[in-house]
Amino acid sequence: MTKIDMSVPLAGLSLKTPVMTASGTCGYGLDLLPYLDLSRLGALVVKGISVEPRQGNPPPRIMETCGGMLNAIGLENIGMEAFVAEVLPRLREHRTVLLVNILGESEEDYARLVDRLSEQEGIDGFEVNVSCPNVRRGGIAFGSDPATLEHLVAFLRPRTEKPLIIKLSPNVTDIVDMAGRAEAGGADGLTLINTIRGMSVDVESRRPHLATVVGGLSGPAIKPIALRMVWEAAARVQIPIIGVGGILSGEDAVEFLLAGASAVQIGTAHFRNPAACIEVMAGIEGYLARHGIQAVRELIGAIRVDPSREA
Ligand SMILES: Cc1cc2nc3c(=O)[nH]c(=O)nc-3n(C[C@H](O)[C@H](O)[C@H](O)COP(=O)(O)O)c2cc1C
Repeated sequence: MTKIDMSVPLAGLSLKTPVMTASGTCGYGLDLLPYLDLSRLGALVVKGISVEPRQGNPPPRIMETCGGMLNAIGLENIGMEAFVAEVLPRLREHRTVLLVNILGESEEDYARLVDRLSEQEGIDGFEVNVSCPNVRRGGIAFGSDPATLEHLVAFLRPRTEKPLIIKLSPNVTDIVDMAGRAEAGGADGLTLINTIRGMSVDVESRRPHLATVVGGLSGPAIKPIALRMVWEAAARVQIPIIGVGGILSGEDAVEFLLAGASAVQIGTAHFRNPAACIEVMAGIEGYLARHGIQAVRELIGAIRVDPSREA
């Protein structure tokens, strides 16, 4: 039997497989080393990095929910300089495509991150988390206001030759408009979706489970929403989309590819199985073999939708 081709091109990068980690769900990737060889991943996306270290939110900041989990980690991280000095040298030992997720509270924060990290060997591109409050604009998240989003992307674009992948927030009225704005600003790709705002309450104490009351919902519960957003965005933009939200199996990943994603990320599934990426890759290969498909690329956007049946 001919070997299945799992490679996909993405934003100027060539990925061995379409399966990558989702930011924040496996630290800086080093936590995965006992479970898998990082060079097998399509890409490693590390936990969000800010200019200065962040402590994150007080506990409790994780709560299991039906079909998912709520988190309010608060983007805790070691900061840009410690990442460069302590983590990056260790990641360079592994031959994997490395995407650094970055977050800021102002355009200048993002610019400092892009400037400093672009100089570093071993970083292949950026995933820009825009679900962060913009302190200069009264705390409205960069990813919630179309003009603010486009301005941020256009501001960062000339600062680096590395791919800029914009990770969109689903907590917006019109995800298609946001996708279009990111593309207009010069994004090389999009990641959809970040967590969905949610909450849960302990009825005995009548207190919210999370110290911050509201957190971000992830896991299988959000998969249909993520899929719908990927499908809608894919119809609008030309740039590649990375689908993320509730993927546990190869079939889940295939759904995203068919809906128009060029690659997928595995997030919450890591808390159940740290080798989830490998399981998902095997599941995709199994699907391709079962259907006599030789290259995973053939699945991208290959959903069959009868136009008269669209809602
Ligand atoms: C504990 C936790 C931490 C996360 N941290 C980040 C982060 O630092 N930056 C980011 O862009 N997304 C972060 N996310 C969002 C995930 O990368 C992903 O977009 C989301 O969880 C949906 O995918 P999933 O359902 O497969 O987890 C985090 C998610 C979880 C559960």
